[in-house]
Parts: sequence; structure tokens; C-alpha cells
Amino acid sequence: MPEIDVNNEPCSEGVAIVIFGVTGDLARRKLMPALYENAKFNRLPQPFYILGFARRPWSHDKLRSVLREGVMEYGRVQPIDEDILNSLLERAYYVESTFQDTAGYEQLNQALKDLGVQNILFYLSTPPGMYSTIVENLGKSELDSCPSGWRRIVVEKPFGRDLESAKSLDKELHSVFDEAQIYRMDHYLGKETVQNILAFRFGNGIFEPLWNRKYIDHIQITMAETDGVGTRAGYYDKAGVVRDVFQNHLLQLLTLTAMEAPAVFNAKAVRDEKVKVLVSISEITGDAALRNTFRAQYVSGTLDGKRVASYRDEPDVAPASTTETYMAARLFVNNWRWAGVPFYLRSGKRLPNRVTEIAIQFTQIPLALFGQQNLASEAPNVLVIRIQPNEGITLFLGAKVPGGSMHIEPVEMRFSYAEAFGDAPPEAYERLLLDCLTGDATLFTRSDEVEEAWRLTQGIIEAWETQKLQNLPVYEAGTQGPHGADDFLQRDNRYWRKI
Ligand SMILES: NC(=O)c1ccc[n+]([C@@H]2O[C@H](COP(=O)([O-])OP(=O)(O)OC[C@H]3O[C@@H](n4cnc5c(N)ncnc54)[C@H](OP(=O)(O)O)[C@@H]3O)[C@@H](O)[C@H]2O)c1
Repeated sequence: MPEIDVNNEPCSEGVAIVIFGVTGDLARRKLMPALYENAKFNRLPQPFYILGFARRPWSHDKLRSVLREGVMEYGRVQPIDEDILNSLLERAYYVESTFQDTAGYEQLNQALKDLGVQNILFYLSTPPGMYSTIVENLGKSELDSCPSGWRRIVVEKPFGRDLESAKSLDKELHSVFDEAQIYRMDHYLGKETVQNILAFRFGNGIFEPLWNRKYIDHIQITMAETDGVGTRAGYYDKAGVVRDVFQNHLLQLLTLTAMEAPAVFNAKAVRDEKVKVLVSISEITGDAALRNTFRAQYVSGTLDGKRVASYRDEPDVAPASTTETYMAARLFVNNWRWAGVPFYLRSGKRLPNRVTEIAIQFTQIPLALFGQQNLASEAPNVLVIRIQPNEGITLFLGAKVPGGSMHIEPVEMRFSYAEAFGDAPPEAYERLLLDCLTGDATLFTRSDEVEEAWRLTQGIIEAWETQKLQNLPVYEAGTQGPHGADDFLQRDNRYWRKI
């Protein structure tokens, strides 16, 4: 390892982020730009150190120059303030080692002691298969504890690939770290608009009385992507949409939409309420899982005027792959607020638009006073919370068309975050890294929450695996998705919103 020159470093109680896998994509594209944004607003504790840990033969200077390029290229607000970036990078150091080699951890330990750092955030920005090795080695090298400072660890998603592996990863983590030290990252929760679901629900009085089975007909949660698998085929072909999106993002959006108001706004109270929602969802297994879900894979089609390849023709995808790139599911939250209200969830790749939204469809008016002239009756009141893009909230209403007759047409009442607050909202990682540094775990998933989400997902995975489809349904890229996904909504006399 290159020498760390600590001559000018005061012996202090500074804070360090140790990024395992610092030579990877996430560190350059997300973590470093997020640290820079926080530095710009003086939000980082001082003195603040960055220690990168990976196997490439890099020097401290090489690390600094790669991280600098990352900020220059991906920094959210341009131009970049070079003075701030330089002072952040002055305290960036590199430890060259494989994750398996215990000598690397001894070097890391020594470097942290030389720097006089008492408080350390370990960030596992590595392939998931490496988490256990790193955690075990942190334990062995006694880097996991310090009498006078704190230790925290961030674990990136995916957290396990099924219930069993998630439990065993948890066990390994808990053999070295306490639950309070563990921050399971689902960057979706760091998005401003996701947090705004809570602000909208619990910061306003008018919707709460309507937020229940009496006034809500059903809820649709959609996460549509235009992208294919890109460079992630190695991971995606083994994971599929159910592990990549359903187990984490879709279920997170569902819990935030359905949860009760917490007694106070802190990590324990918020996460307690979220877990209650997951526990209340009826598990779907076997035939019920098959009846209440739909899966499909995209074939070539036209998106934005361009021809795109079939999933099976994407680089690194097995030519006969049966991995699902689309899924829809119908779930019920069995509690007093939601009993009988279906939550329809769907996500897919290569759909016509990139959109994530939660649509709350209210019940119909009890009596059709305006009969045939009520053209809004086809599209009753819907409240759409748009997570991305064009973050905002839209309420669909029926209004009288000006003129002599009682002609009712659907209209929209819109609120746009960009119009109301200007700039693009901060990146999720900016908020989440700061929360880890200040010890606020509200926006991170707790052990029991992950386990409950996997329990629900496991039933679907097992049903799908047991009942392998000879011919997996397909949908053409650029279309609204597979026709079969409409079936269980139509059986309920309902329809998907157009993507
Ligand atoms: N990229 C994203 O936008 C994103 C978004 C959400 C979640 N995540 C998650 O974040 C994690 C990191 O993602 P990434 O895209 O940065 O991955 P990546 O580009 O594959 O980087 C992995 C890092 O780990 C290092 N590494 C792997 N095996 C090693 C070993 N045995 N010893 C030492 N170093 C080793 C790699 O070093 P080499 O460079 O030498 O291979 C590299 O620095 C993953 O769990 C991913 O699922 C990423």
C-alpha cells in the first residue's frame, strides 16, 4: 500500500468513510458526487476522510484523480467548485488489497489509527457475494468496534437473493455488528418524492379521512423502465424483475402508501409501522401466487423510433433465458384500513415510458346524476403521486364543460415539484450518506422489514419456479406490456392506467 503521509493531520476524532470496491461504478458515479454535494454545503463532519479499498494497483493520486473525474462528470450541480473538491480529495487515501486478504484490513486499521479517526462508516460497494467475506474480516481485524467512537456499515442492495440467503446474510452481519450499526441501502427511499409520500399523507389533513377502504377502490403502483438490461445482464438474468424491483422498490412504495401514521417521526416508529403493513399482506403461494401474478419477457420492438433487441439477444443473456422482465401482482393488505382493497403492482423493462407512480383510485359516485353526459365517469377521481420523472401530484376530477348542458369531462389539478421548488431535487445518495453519518436509520430497511419483504416474494418465486412456463409470455418492446397482465384486473372489472 502506498504510504499515507499524516504529518499535517491533527490527531482528532474525525470521521472516515471506508469504501470497499472504490474502483467500481457506484463509487465514481454516485457516492463521490454525493459526498461532494454534502461538502459543498458544509454538511460533512470534520475532519472527514475517504479511504478507498480495492484490488487494483492504484496510488492515492490515482484514486483522487478517478474520484475527481467522477464528480466532474456526474456532479449534480455544475460547474463544480474545484476548491471544495480539492479539499475533500486531499484526505482521500487508497488501500490496495483483495477483500479476502486479511493483511489488507490490518493496513486499513493502521491507516485509520495513523489518521486518528475514531468514527468509521464502512460502505460495501462491492458484488453482493463479497459482503460476508468483508464483514468476517472486519470482525477478525477488530475494525468493527472502538471504545471511543462509532462504527456503522452500509450494505448495498440486493440484500440476499431469497428468504434463506437474506437470513443467512443477516446472521453473518449480526455476528459482527449490532442491528443499530447496520444500514441496508435501498436508494429509492432516499428519493425526495418517496419521502414526500409521508409528507403528503401525514402533513396534510384533507386526505387522511379518505385514505381507507371506504373511499378507495384500489391502488396501482407502477414502475416502468424504457431501458433493457444494459450492462447488468450478468446480475439481472439470475435475478429477474421479482428480485430486482418487486422485493424492494415496489413493496417499499406499497408500505409507505398503506402504513399508519407513526407515533413520532423516528427510525423505530416509522419502521415499526412499515413492518406492520408487510405482516398484514396475505402471503401468496402456490396456485394463489400464479392466479395473482403475471410474468413475461420482452421481445424486440420499437422504442422511441428505434428498433431494440429481444431480451434473449442482449449481451450476456442466456439465449434460452426464461428470466422475467415484466411482472404484475395483486396483493391485499389485511387490516382494518385496507381489507378488500386490491393493490396492483407492476414493473417492466422496455416499456414505452420511464415512469414510477402510485395511483389512488377513489370509489365511484353513488348515483349518476348526469347520466350519459358524465364523461368523467369512466375515469373517476384518481390521485396520482408521480415519483419520477416530473415529480408531482395530480388529482383527476370531473368538471362541467362550459355551455348550456350538464356535460362533465375529466380535468387535472396538478402540483409539480420543479415548478414549486425550482432545481432538480437532490440525489438519493446525498441524503442517505448524510443520514448514515449522522446515525439516522429512518430511511434504511430494518432486518425484520427485509425478512418480511422476502417472505412475500419467496412465495411468488417458488410458485414460478415450480410451475416453469413452457412458453413464457412475451411483450413487444415499446408496448404497454403483455396482454395477460390485464386479465386479473379485468376479472375485477378494473383497468391499468396507460403508461
Ligand atoms: N452502480 C449502481 O448504480 C448501483 C445502484 C444500486 C446498487 N448498486 C450495488 O452497489 C454495489 C456496487 O456496485 P458497482 O456497480 O460499483 O459494482 P462494480 O462496478 O462491479 O464494482 C465492484 C467493486 O468491487 C471490487 N472487487 C470485486 N471483487 C473484489 C475482490 N475480491 N477484492 C477486491 N476488490 C474487489 C471491484 O474491483 P475491480 O474494479 O478490480 O473489479 C470494484 O471496485 C453492488 O452490490 C450493486 O448491486 C449499484
